[in-house]
Amino acid sequence: MPLPPLDTIPPDVASLDDYEALARERIEPGAWAYLSGAAADEITLRENRAAFERLRLCPRIFRDLSQANTRLSLFGREYAHPIFIAPTAFHRLFHPSGELATLLGASALETCMTVSTQAGTAIEEITQAATVPPWFQLYIQPDRAFTAELVKRVEAAGCSAIVLTADAPLHGLRNREQRAAFRMPPGFEPVNLRGMETVPPADRVFGSHLLAKAPTWQDLAWLRSHTKLPIILKGVLDPHDALQAASYGVDAIIVSNHGGRTLDTVPAAIEVLPSIAAALQGKLPILMDGGIRRGTDVLKSLALGASAVMVGRPILHGLAAAGATGVAHVLKILRTELEIAMALTGRATLAELDPSVIWPAS
Ligand SMILES: Cc1cc2nc3c(=O)[nH]c(=O)nc-3n(C[C@H](O)[C@H](O)[C@H](O)COP(=O)(O)O)c2cc1C
Repeated sequence: MPLPPLDTIPPDVASLDDYEALARERIEPGAWAYLSGAAADEITLRENRAAFERLRLCPRIFRDLSQANTRLSLFGREYAHPIFIAPTAFHRLFHPSGELATLLGASALETCMTVSTQAGTAIEEITQAATVPPWFQLYIQPDRAFTAELVKRVEAAGCSAIVLTADAPLHGLRNREQRAAFRMPPGFEPVNLRGMETVPPADRVFGSHLLAKAPTWQDLAWLRSHTKLPIILKGVLDPHDALQAASYGVDAIIVSNHGGRTLDTVPAAIEVLPSIAAALQGKLPILMDGGIRRGTDVLKSLALGASAVMVGRPILHGLAAAGATGVAHVLKILRTELEIAMALTGRATLAELDPSVIWPAS
């Protein structure tokens, strides 16, 4: 039997990895496979961490840190720090209060949360409780008329951007989930998709209705014409796609391999980030996610061209361990670690984070 969420955080919890251990004891094994697993042999999942671990930092001494801060501005809004919450589905699998507990934890640390298309809570309920206007992650649905209505609803609810996920036209091959026989428990549904015409399940890939209706660049143009909200394209790994996204009028991209959950053996997000930053030449802000577990990982991402990062699994670990308090503490640990890493590398602002922070490869 999984343990209940904690009321108070044990004093020996010091890092995000400690939260993973606490979460594991509190999540039923099938849901644990869903949360922590990734595609096929999970090579990309491991590489997301290994690539950060290979990078070394280059500290500078005696820099003026008297005005040090982590503030940034994106799409005309000010954010207190560059650590954002990545969209993840069905938070109620991990805590009875689901997305609302995540939001409460996020608010405590002035963090922007991205709400998944597959959230188990109505978007209006989330935005009403939000102190930082959340972003909404959109999967363009086979039913485009419904998708257009959903976008209107998200705008009316007060979301401040749309994160359009492009790297998952179908579910990755999740062998760990298959082996654990994971099925979404009864009563769990993506409530924001209620009333949508669904595509019949198919036992084949090519020729299925799902692929027949999978989004293309034309759908990005269509979405651009349907909303004034900033569009942030998530799941870009190739510099050509980054440039094409810019030409379609997106406002930012997220360099991401979906936490290793879609196509296995693609490179770590942090590894492709420099080539995308080089291609874009500052045309668009870049965010990135995948494997962020330490403040030094945030620092490295910003040094290599990201304006901000997103965190996926560790937020759910905090949620499962101790609800809103756990989410807030995970964010607090990461933010404090980022500030320490900035101070110890002698960089007072995010603008000072450039490739010179990374020790040159020999
Ligand atoms: C349990 C789980 C559910 C996810 N659901 C979504 C989703 O609904 N939409 C989406 O764009 N990405 C989804 N992702 C991917 C995350 O947004 C993010 O890209 C990834 O988790 C980042 O890697 P990290 O977990 O190492 O931080 C999900 C990830 C996990 C772990």
